[in-house]
Amino acid sequence: MSKISWKGGALIAPLPPVLVTCGTMEKPNVLTIAWTGILNTLPPKTYVSVRPTRYSYDLIKSTGEFVINLTTSQMVKSVDFCGVKSGRDIDKFAATGFVPEKASIVACPMIAQSPVSLECRVADIVPLGSHDMFIADIIAVNVDDKYIDRDGKLHLERCGLVAYAHGEYFELGKKIGSFGFSVRKKNKNRHN
Ligand SMILES: Cc1cc2nc3c(=O)[nH]c(=O)nc-3n(C[C@H](O)[C@H](O)[C@H](O)COP(=O)(O)O)c2cc1C
Repeated sequence: MSKISWKGGALIAPLPPVLVTCGTMEKPNVLTIAWTGILNTLPPKTYVSVRPTRYSYDLIKSTGEFVINLTTSQMVKSVDFCGVKSGRDIDKFAATGFVPEKASIVACPMIAQSPVSLECRVADIVPLGSHDMFIADIIAVNVDDKYIDRDGKLHLERCGLVAYAHGEYFELGKKIGSFGFSVRKKNKNRHN
């Protein structure tokens, strides 16, 4: 095996292309964000890195709130659309048919079509260069009950979650393991 060495670049893949909603129920906006992830488990903390030129930037900064909405393959065309059109020029909710849904704590809406919406409150803003990183507490998680079974288990594999890799969108594929499976002892009573 041999690797070609390139100069440093933002090439971690896959990433989740999430829809970040901001503003208010009366005047909401939504933009696509791939520079996101989890920073800490307890308390649960996330980040979104946003270019200061985005229309959403001032909305998030002034309200100190946003919602991260996970995206599915059914939503992917609108995910791309919200990442190339600005709320400065159009109402992206009207254009995509996304339905704004009242969040449990924050004033900005969630997207009804999204299977999981995380309500976030900004804790810190870190200017990094091209982007400013909004570090935020995840203060509520809202899950579409159709993905929760009778035992309360969440089945994210049924959502058709989208992954973003090097400029392209993919639907999450088949399950190939689960946390800790590499060291898990086989149940002797099971024959399958
Ligand atoms: C897949 C994808 C990922 C994106 N990720 C980011 C990101 O992490 N940060 C960012 O500032 N813009 C990102 N963008 C660009 C913004 O979504 C885009 O500029 C959008 O039009 C901004 O909307 P607004 O002006 O209504 O805020 C991404 C776009 C796409 C299509």
